[in-house]
Amino acid sequence: MLKDKIQEYINDIQSTSIEKFQDKATEVEMFRVKYLGKKGIISDLFEQFKSVPNEEKKDLGKALNQLKVIAMDKIEEFKAYCEQSEELNSTNDLSLPADFTQLGSRHVLSVVMNEITEIFARLGFTVAESVEIEDDWHLFSALNFPPDHPARDMQDTFFVEKEEGRQEVALRTHTSSVQVRVMESQKPPIRIIAPGRVFRNEAISARAHCIFHQVEALYVDKHVSFADLKQTLLYFAKEMFGAETQIRLRPSYFPFTEPSAEMDISCGICGGKGCNICKGTGWLEILGCGMVDPNVLQACGIDPTQYSGFALGMGVERMAMLKYQIRDLRLYFENDLRFLKQFEAIV
Ligand code: DAH
Repeated sequence: MLKDKIQEYINDIQSTSIEKFQDKATEVEMFRVKYLGKKGIISDLFEQFKSVPNEEKKDLGKALNQLKVIAMDKIEEFKAYCEQSEELNSTNDLSLPADFTQLGSRHVLSVVMNEITEIFARLGFTVAESVEIEDDWHLFSALNFPPDHPARDMQDTFFVEKEEGRQEVALRTHTSSVQVRVMESQKPPIRIIAPGRVFRNEAISARAHCIFHQVEALYVDKHVSFADLKQTLLYFAKEMFGAETQIRLRPSYFPFTEPSAEMDISCGICGGKGCNICKGTGWLEILGCGMVDPNVLQACGIDPTQYSGFALGMGVERMAMLKYQIRDLRLYFENDLRFLKQFEAIV
């Protein structure tokens, strides 16, 4: 008798289809409680099993266990069905809000480069752009580099073409080449700013990279003097690093400027007292500059007896490093979101 009952239950379970359930999740739970609950059918059958004569126990025990396994399997099957249809329903719910699309943000180098460009734009400088693959004339010769200058060396320059008797072609090593392009194609007054990528054959480290960015400025007109350069530099430094910033100029040498100078700004971290950022000097080296060498004007077809000019060039990575205290150049190029996200707020 008990055995027949067990068989009936087995039939009931096997013939139950989830399709029949209205509120599926609730009814599956009810079904589970009915069979497998503490006071459910199966536990009741096990209770009755205790009083079954010993000779029937083996057979009945087997049937009971079978019932239990069938009930458990069925419930698993129902639950899997519910989960799957839940997923399906949720993807079909057109009223759900759309997936959040992550917005990118400008790279810190672009932000700094734009900021430099904008400061010069306020002084009337317009942006000039040119090629990244340059010939020897625009990179070196027109800029008064002597033929044996070390910057022309294989160790510094990535040559694209270097053949006996042919014009050498290389990835530009500085944005000063844009000066030449502009002077060749425009008449003074010239007031340009040239932001861009440059390439040098350097081993990559925290302090050097084979790709980096520069911003070049050039001003050519009648009566342009060193005082104009100095005033422009002071304006730039104060706009870029804060109104209390001071500048100093140290004599230097570049083939394309005469006289040449390097500009330092007072260290904004320690206020000039000396710290580990400025290596105790109170000053930070920022850029190179000078009066355009008459040879360069001449090479570019501008009469140096009538016109004069100043030029300056700076490294964007270095500017950003000083402004945001970035210690390792490689961070700029690795595109690690943890780094990039720190600059989301600056535009
Ligand atoms: N071209 C120089 C460099 O790559 C930077 C530079 C120095 C640019 C002085 C200038 C300048 O225009 O006047 O290191």
